[in-house]
Amino acid sequence: MNPTCTTSSNNMAGAFITFEGIDGCGKSTQLRLLASELRVRGITVVTTREPGGTPLGQRLRAALLDVQEQVDPLAELLVFAADRAQHVRKHLRPSLAANQVVLSDRYADATVAYQGAGRGFAPELIQEIVQLATEGLRPDLTLLFDLSVAESAVRTRRRIESKRTDRLDIEDAEFHTRVRNGYVEIAKAEPARIKVIDARGSVQETHLAVMDIVMPFLEDRGLLGAEQSAKSKAPRGKRESSAN
Ligand code: TYD
Repeated sequence: MNPTCTTSSNNMAGAFITFEGIDGCGKSTQLRLLASELRVRGITVVTTREPGGTPLGQRLRAALLDVQEQVDPLAELLVFAADRAQHVRKHLRPSLAANQVVLSDRYADATVAYQGAGRGFAPELIQEIVQLATEGLRPDLTLLFDLSVAESAVRTRRRIESKRTDRLDIEDAEFHTRVRNGYVEIAKAEPARIKVIDARGSVQETHLAVMDIVMPFLEDRGLLGAEQSAKSKAPRGKRESSAN
């Protein structure tokens, strides 16, 4: 592995899939369901997240998301980048070099959407910092779970009421609207990599939409055996699912 490589993971045999969307869109639940479905099918999967995908990252995450903390926006941008730099070098690149399928709950698109569109940092600065932290490592596939801010607020309200919330969850609706619009713009700019999934349906409906995208993608990369390839071509709804 060349640590200064500036390409996506496409030149590695593994696959790097990221999950994105506004808070409350259901991406973490979908990541868990996909991971267990792939494991049932005999595919080795690494699950990780940002912030917090490494031991150092877990400490940065706790500080970044603490509702009591007054975090300056530039400090916020740089700490997310520090978390990512550690994650890329210590976890993502080694996992991809070992041919793993890596599922990450958020990655660099979150910085473009939250710190770029949400906080208002200039796109050029965001790109520079993302490039520095990632060394150009881009996801092979990104699933963007799209939901209106009003619908996501219904889902996050319970977390907020039970105080299982974080500093960004409690930003106002205008902030979350800018973030959502930011994600939609990123998806428009990179339609081959980013697949938008309507997250309004039930958990199971959304899971089927995820499978319809991910199984053909893994097949194209030669990561499914012959039996799994046949299943990936089965019409939607006829495919068996272990996730209920
Ligand atoms: P997440 O783990 O998705 O939150 P949850 O625990 O609610 O599932 O993400 C934590 C928060 O961090 C989320 O509000 C988005 C924010 N974030 C950024 O603002 N910039 C970033 O680069 C990343 C990775 C996350």
